[in-house]
Order: sequence, then structure tokens, then C-alpha cells
Amino acid sequence: MPYDVERIRGEFPGLARAESGRPTVFFDNPAGTQIARRAIERMVEAMTTANANLGGFFDTSVEAGALVREAHAAAADFVNAASPDEIFFGQSMTALTFQLSRSIGRELRPGDEIVLTRMDHDGNVTPWLMLAEERGLTVRWLDFDPARFEYDMASLERALNSRTRLIAVNHASNVTGTLNDIASIARAAKAVGALVYVDAVQSAPHVPIDVQVLGCDFLVCSAYKFHGPHYALAWGRRAHLERLTAYKVRAASNQLPFRFVNGTTNREALAGIRGAIEHFEWLGREFGAGGSDPSSTRRQRIVAGALAMRAHDRMLAKRLIDGLATVPGLRILGLSRTEDLARRVPTVSFDLAGHDPAAIARFMATEGINVWSGHNYGVEPVTRLGLLDKGGVVRVGPTHYNTPAEIDRFLESLARYRARNALTA
Ligand SMILES: Cc1ncc(COP(=O)(O)O)c(C=O)c1O
Repeated sequence: MPYDVERIRGEFPGLARAESGRPTVFFDNPAGTQIARRAIERMVEAMTTANANLGGFFDTSVEAGALVREAHAAAADFVNAASPDEIFFGQSMTALTFQLSRSIGRELRPGDEIVLTRMDHDGNVTPWLMLAEERGLTVRWLDFDPARFEYDMASLERALNSRTRLIAVNHASNVTGTLNDIASIARAAKAVGALVYVDAVQSAPHVPIDVQVLGCDFLVCSAYKFHGPHYALAWGRRAHLERLTAYKVRAASNQLPFRFVNGTTNREALAGIRGAIEHFEWLGREFGAGGSDPSSTRRQRIVAGALAMRAHDRMLAKRLIDGLATVPGLRILGLSRTEDLARRVPTVSFDLAGHDPAAIARFMATEGINVWSGHNYGVEPVTRLGLLDKGGVVRVGPTHYNTPAEIDRFLESLARYRARNALTA
């Protein structure tokens, strides 16, 4: 069935919102997407029918246990993990990274080296910088070219050596929108024996995630960026998760998948994550290639759904970039040529010469259009782009439920902003 964006919008109660008599345009998706109906329903179901702690003999506890197992299985299929045991959940990508970095850090010695990148969100930078400070590690940087918005692979060669123990890298940037070639980076890192820790927060809403293809050791992403609740998931290869010291209380299980669970899990969030993944499956069944085949696996339906979204995303990105490219004084801070769209997600940041990004975002808000401005926690990339002390960027982030008409409305609004503020340009 052809992609039906209106039907898809019907799956998101939050999209019904209007500001000043016009439907709100949600282009704040890279900071948090609207929640899929299936995710909301799963959360309500968990809180109303299976509300008990785990491990009891009574029905509600048994049902809560089944719900947790289902969430692990769905998340494993979402990232193509070898086993649901390789998944665990936590409050946020940042919290999971602080947690995992402590465990990984116990195996590192003074003088060992880690590689961080100038393109990453701070959630994949500060936990490692703090670890480096605590354990006397040397930090090396993988740089990106601020004119091409892609990693400088010569800088990777320079950063890696026989002392490198880990590289922490993002799959897609929340600032430039670049979709990075993690498989190549992982191959180079593996050649020197380093672990590869991938932040997939911005790629998970836009491309199928496959940890086997990426060749990484750990991957983290946040469900609220892919239509689930405000919670996050981590994947790690079994051998690492079994070997690493888990920060846990003695009474808690030492077996996977529970080793890295701290205290009582947010069961309703886990149910919501399962529901968000069911939304991907639904997209695959309805609009994906092969997704409606009754013999398809959940993983195949998820991938079919993500690919259907990807085609729509790319169309939106092209329309947005083509429109922005005609604006005098506007610099698109990411890959812009049509032939390069396969190497980006639809998140588009820009700066407009002489204008404060916050003023543009504030104006958009008055027109019912949600966009973000500032560094968006991309402290490294925004610094590298030379914009940290200039108010950062304006970030426009369409996703699979947005429409071409919304892109046009945003571009018209930007033209109005420019007309009203022409004297300050
Ligand atoms: C690329 C990227 N990594 C990490 C994060 C942090 O995610 P969380 O809020 O779940 O800690 C974000 C949030 O915007 C992000 O965009």
C-alpha cells in the first residue's frame, strides 16, 4: 500500500494539537517525537492490568514478568541483537552511558586511550571525559570537516593506536544530521582491539538499526525519540555484559538481562517501548516492502517499517533543504546535495547571517511551528562549526508523520520572519 501520511498521523493523538487556530507543526522531533497510540495503550495496559513487582507467584506479578520479557524481545528485534538478554533499559541514553562507562572504565588503566568525536552529543562525550579524568586516560578526538559535515577519516587513523581501548561515536548527529559510516569506523577500531560504543539516539527514528552490520560492542538509544516514552535502551554483546562489573546491589540478580538493572524497572515505560516498536511493525505491515507477508518475522516488519519511513523522510528533507537553499544569507549546516541525502537523516540545522537562532525559533513558536535553537547539547559540533558563542543553530527536524505542506508552511513562516526583521539583517 502506498505511504499514507494522513493515516499515519491518525496513530498519534498528540498531533491533534492546534495553536492559534492552526494545527501545530511538530519539527521538534530530534528533541522528542510524539508518542504512538500503540505505545500509549501499552503503557495504560501495563499500569492497569499487570501492576506488581517481579518474581511473585501471583498473577499480576507473573503478567508483569511476561511484559518485561516481551519488551526485551521486541527491543532485541529492533536493534537485531543476538538475544533479548543483551538488552537492558534505563532512564535515558545519558544515564545509561554514565552507568556503562563506569563498568567499562574498571577495565581501563592510566595511559590507556579513548577516542571521542567532535560531532557527538554531550551524552556521549561528558561521561567519557569524566571517566578519563578519574582513571588517567588519554583522550583523542575524531574530527569532522566543518565544510563537508563528515568525519575526517585521516583523523581517525591518527587517533587510533595500540593503546586505544574504546571509541564512542554517534550513528547520526543531532546537529548536522550526518548518518555516519559506523561499520567502517568499527572495523578500524577493531583492528587495534578497541571497543565501539555507538549512540544511535538520532538514527533509531530514521533508519533500521542493525548492531551486527554496524559491528559495534554497545549501542544506546532513547525511546522518546522514536515514538515511545521517556526511557532508553542499551544493547551490549553478551560476552561484555557477562564480563563487566555491574553496579548493582548484592540482592539483585547477576544473570542477564537483569545484571545492569538498578532497582525496580519502569515497567510501564518498557511496555511503551514495546508499543513504539509495534508502531514500526504496523508501518512495515501497511506500507513496507514484504511487511504484510504473514510469514514475515517481527524483525522483518520493523525493518520494512523503518525503510518506508526513510523514503518519506528523504522526500521531506529534500523539500526542506531545497527551500532553505534559496534563502539569502542562510547556511545549511549539513549535507545538502540530493545525491548525499542517503548519508543523512532529515534533521536540518542552519544559521542565518545576522540573526539570533533563538529569535527565529521564538517567532516560529508564535506561528505554531515547533523548532529548536541553540547547541541542543551538541556542544562539540556547534563549537566546531564556530557557533557556540553565536547562539548555536536553528534545528528543524521533520519525521515520518510530517507532511510536505508542513515544510512549505515552515518556509513561508521563515520568509515572513525575514521580511519583518529585514532591517536587523
Ligand atoms: C544524539 C543524541 N545523543 C544522546 C542524547 C541524549 O539522550 P537522553 O535524553 O536519552 O539522555 C540525545 C538527545 O537529544 C541525542 O540527540
